Amino acid sequence: MQGYIEQNKEKFLNELLDLLRIPSVSADSKFKGDVRKAAEFVAEKIQVAGADLVEICETAGHPIVFGQKIIDETLPTVLVYGHYDVQPADPYELWNSPPFEPVVKDGKIYARGACDDKGQFYMHIKAFEAMMATNALPCNVKFMIEGEEEIGSDNLGIFVAANKDRLKADVILISDTAIIANDTPSIDVGLRGLSYLEVEVTGANRDLHSGVYGGAVANPINVLSKMIASLHDENNHITIPTFYDDVLDLTAEERAAMAQTPFNLDAYKEDLAIDEVYGETGYSTIERASIRPTLDVNGIWGGYIGEGAKTVLPSKAYAKISMRLVPNQQSDKITALFTKHFESIAPAGVQVKVRPHHGGEPYVTPTNSIEYLAAEKAMEEAFGKKPVPTRGGGSIPIVALFEKELQVKTVLMGFGLDSDAIHSPNEHYGLFNFYKGIETIPLFFKYYAEMAQ
Ligand code: BES
Ligand code: MN
Ligand code: MN
Repeated sequence: MQGYIEQNKEKFLNELLDLLRIPSVSADSKFKGDVRKAAEFVAEKIQVAGADLVEICETAGHPIVFGQKIIDETLPTVLVYGHYDVQPADPYELWNSPPFEPVVKDGKIYARGACDDKGQFYMHIKAFEAMMATNALPCNVKFMIEGEEEIGSDNLGIFVAANKDRLKADVILISDTAIIANDTPSIDVGLRGLSYLEVEVTGANRDLHSGVYGGAVANPINVLSKMIASLHDENNHITIPTFYDDVLDLTAEERAAMAQTPFNLDAYKEDLAIDEVYGETGYSTIERASIRPTLDVNGIWGGYIGEGAKTVLPSKAYAKISMRLVPNQQSDKITALFTKHFESIAPAGVQVKVRPHHGGEPYVTPTNSIEYLAAEKAMEEAFGKKPVPTRGGGSIPIVALFEKELQVKTVLMGFGLDSDAIHSPNEHYGLFNFYKGIETIPLFFKYYAEMAQ
């Protein structure tokens, strides 16, 4: 196995670079054709690696690639999930090299999607190829690689509910999260949920002269700023009534264990070039970014933003707002709470509209399950160090749905680093991480197949 991987290192990397050249941005319809090209690329590679069935499944949006290799119906089945779509690369001018012209520099691959998630799911296709080529696939494997993760996976949710038989598996394996550091392996045992929405505040029926009307008519941007500012109190708690009611608090032991997680605050600050961290009183940085819910403005606009000055009182102001949720909060419920509260705090003189975007439920999984133990053993062997369980701050909405629809648990065996700049300019992925993943995945298969017998 190691021999095969060693001999094919260059080939594996070159294929990944080809995949990274396809700008499969799911959010922007301009890239629709490229998103499909990426699906076709993935389907072909799963086929060539040795699957006995591969299909590009159409949806109302971007296609889903499904593939499988069934060696024996009586053996366990691992379902590998990943996403071939990527976030928009904007702002382009902040990239040191073009986002869809990958370069390898200082042991890292720079491109949009290098880590999230092309570099990571591609490790699974190469690990599968290596297992097939060396006659070492110990159980059945299914692949489901989708093209809409970055826009909420709505169509995948429909696909999963309609294809329960086809997706039948004993465990779901995903590499789309991070480890603490290359010498400190970790496994995420949780993800946050998400409630994402857009708000619109309207004042007068048209933009007005800010001298003639200013001071006498509500300015939607002033009002929106004030409303947004009121959503946190002086301790950075969220002020929406009953927002925290369903939050499952960690026990004192769980918090103590979390406080032992290796974390270097100075390195964290240095990486981000900030002089201080910022957040909810009473919680550590790790807690704030994983086990606590949040409310953040992701974008805000309105009025005149062109060159020079224009004296105008805008008619409308907008913001995009995300709330990250933790067990046992529910996305729909939180969206409804937000909407009711936001409407209630609007002053007379403006109209408020709240439009929900997408959502997802939080996830948490135990560390004493067979799948966790198999991942732990695989990582320990590959890294020479036992991995630490961690809670991830990001969201992969389909994970909670897998459990609900398929009653199957997920192992989040990711290999990225927080510093890989996913969703940011100059996203990258370490060659070390790419190859370490390809080495670790067959070990997971081996130990999982043994333990699940
Ligand atoms: N891979 C990330 C999620 C992630 C990153 C989880 C790091 C844990 C650690 C995923 O591609 C992502 O960005 N998800 C979106 C979900 C959304 C668009 C529905 C997110 O978290 O913003
Ligand atoms: Mn991802
Ligand atoms: Mn992402």
